[in-house]
Amino acid sequence: KPKKQNNMMVAHDMLTKLYHHLLINTEQGKEAYDYLIERGFSDDIIKNFQIGFAPNSWDFVSNFLQRREFNLDEMIDAGLLSRSEEGKVFDRFRNRIMFPIWDRQGNTIAFGGRTISDDKVKYLNSPETKLFHKGNNLYAFHLARPHIRKKEQLLLFEGYIDVIAATKAGCENAVATLGTAITPEQATLIRRNADNVIICYDGDNAGVNAAFKATQMLEENGCYVKIALLPDNLDPDDFIRKYGAEKFKSEIINAARTVMAFKMEYFRRRKNLQDEGERMRYIEEVLKEISKLPKAIERDHYLRQIASEFSLSLDALKSQQFQIFKQMR
Ligand code: GTP
Ligand code: MN
Ligand code: MN
Ligand code: MN
Ligand code: MN
Repeated sequence: KPKKQNNMMVAHDMLTKLYHHLLINTEQGKEAYDYLIERGFSDDIIKNFQIGFAPNSWDFVSNFLQRREFNLDEMIDAGLLSRSEEGKVFDRFRNRIMFPIWDRQGNTIAFGGRTISDDKVKYLNSPETKLFHKGNNLYAFHLARPHIRKKEQLLLFEGYIDVIAATKAGCENAVATLGTAITPEQATLIRRNADNVIICYDGDNAGVNAAFKATQMLEENGCYVKIALLPDNLDPDDFIRKYGAEKFKSEIINAARTVMAFKMEYFRRRKNLQDEGERMRYIEEVLKEISKLPKAIERDHYLRQIASEFSLSLDALKSQQFQIFKQMR
């Protein structure tokens, strides 16, 4: 019988193995397995990330845990089972592809479950539990850590599947926040392991805004941050499947830019710089962003860039930037 204080951890370990077995060896797991293969997962990747399948059943896991004499109330607290209003215990994860979420030593402490049907909830994750504090963890951190250390660089993604796709593409220094905005604890964990961070979020508006917020949080913690932006509405996994690993590395990761360069490009795309009025408004927008930069050398760098690009005098730009700076305080 498992030791009491480790019950939750033991259950997570057993279920990691059970879900994985169901995915790769059983008829029940076949639809999920075929779905993964169709999406470009390999057997090696499925094994490496311990991916599994929770069967389409209300009592498969609860019976499994009961037979092994786990306390069902504790399993509910662990987020593995649920209780109905009538008091009936049932499996929390059903008909989902299961992604174990590990602690820094590689013990499973939670799961992310992706539906393979048309369930409105695409990802169902474990709740906050005694074992699992979402904001303290990064997905796949223990797998990525040696690569992060060696490359002195960390790649930050939104989704589990993006981390897996990047790893498969040879970018093994990949982790993800767990479906929420980055927390101060996650930023601290990142800073302790890497100076350089490349944020590689989805190429939609939500992704861009989340990337700006994450940049600020990481810079406050002392990281050097770049943003890799994906063409419209593709996420890293979509991009890799469509264009391949080499293009992902050369055109996305290696082309990542500082947040300022990124914002300049972002403003530029929405303006016609041939038009004098729009060009002036563009320059003003950029000067406003320059004014937010904390380091004088950075401000100087971008002011010179603008001066040279638009054949303006550096003195004029500096004095206008100083006006904007004063208005902002
Ligand atoms: P695929 O659609 O399978 O390619 O997954 P994805 O990683 O592209 O998912 P998406 O971009 O929609 O979401 C990114 C991350 O946000 C996921 O990995 C989850 O952590 C989280 N997320 C997305 N949808 C949900 C949801 O319905 N509930 C919760 N709790 N988290 C979600
Ligand atoms: Mn996430
Ligand atoms: Mn998204
Ligand atoms: Mn996505
Ligand atoms: Mn995706």
